[in-house]
Amino acid sequence: MFLSDSRITGKRLVARDMFVITMDAREIASRVLPGQFVNIGWSPGPLLRRPFSVYRVDGERIEIVLKAVGAGTEELLSMSQGDRVSCLGPLGHGFVSGGLGVASMRLAARQAASLGIRVTWVHGARSAEDLCVETDGDDVIWATDDGSKGVKGTAVAASPDADLVLACGPNRMLAAVAARWPEAQVAVETYMGCGTGVCLGCAVPLARGGFDRACTEGPVYRAADVDWASLPSHPSYPVNA
Ligand SMILES: Cc1cc2nc3c(=O)[nH]c(=O)nc-3n(C[C@H](O)[C@H](O)[C@H](O)COP(=O)(O)OP(=O)(O)OC[C@H]3O[C@@H](n4cnc5c(N)ncnc54)[C@H](O)[C@@H]3O)c2cc1C
Ligand code: FES
Repeated sequence: MFLSDSRITGKRLVARDMFVITMDAREIASRVLPGQFVNIGWSPGPLLRRPFSVYRVDGERIEIVLKAVGAGTEELLSMSQGDRVSCLGPLGHGFVSGGLGVASMRLAARQAASLGIRVTWVHGARSAEDLCVETDGDDVIWATDDGSKGVKGTAVAASPDADLVLACGPNRMLAAVAARWPEAQVAVETYMGCGTGVCLGCAVPLARGGFDRACTEGPVYRAADVDWASLPSHPSYPVNA
């Protein structure tokens, strides 16, 4: 794990209100695996760092993808090129094959391709404008709730069966993935306090009973191992810290 004083080097729009932020983080870039995340803090900023999956690596830079959902993500998105953030990572366990619905998939798709695996990229959103324009893989399938692009319906319904299914996105969607492909590997999202296994703020209820820490044993799980009925489908309160 590395603590990097990172300079923001770029920001680009990839879907409605969704941006990719690029930052210098040499050690993290050289070690990160698909499905791992970084915990980002800045000053002045919230007391707690905010976790983001690593979306892509470009040389000594890492990229994260985000939308503003609260004060922390708004502040992060308002930063300019040259501003600095503190970046802790890589954290958590990645997908065993190596991995906002696309965040950890670019790295996973790249790694699968490097192993000679044929990749089908399935991406779903409310409507065409919300789909991330950047894709990967050999085949691309789009799904939108309103039918404005690709298949009308969910990404899970639009997906073909496959030998290995990797998924990230809202927990409710991951529960649907688990129902169809119990062996899928899914990256869950929880609130996180420390991101390093100490505060127990990221508890993931397990099907066998008990809890795991998403930041340490996760955030990637075998889909059937999570007690989806007990995992909040969406964190229901803002973290004012
Ligand atoms: C391992 C991991 C990887 C993540 N990767 C990404 C990523 O790549 N891109 C990205 O945009 N976000 C990602 N998130 C979610 C991101 O960390 C939160 O959206 C962020 O911390 C919110 O901070 P905030 O201060 O803006 O919002 P807050 O003020 O804390 O909350 C504002 C609103 O957002 C909701 N919210 C907060 N956290 C989440 C969450 N985890 N999921 C859904 N809704 C939430 C709250 O219910 C609240 O209504 C990830 C989370 C985890 C645990
Ligand atoms: S976020 Fe603190 S233990 Fe996981």
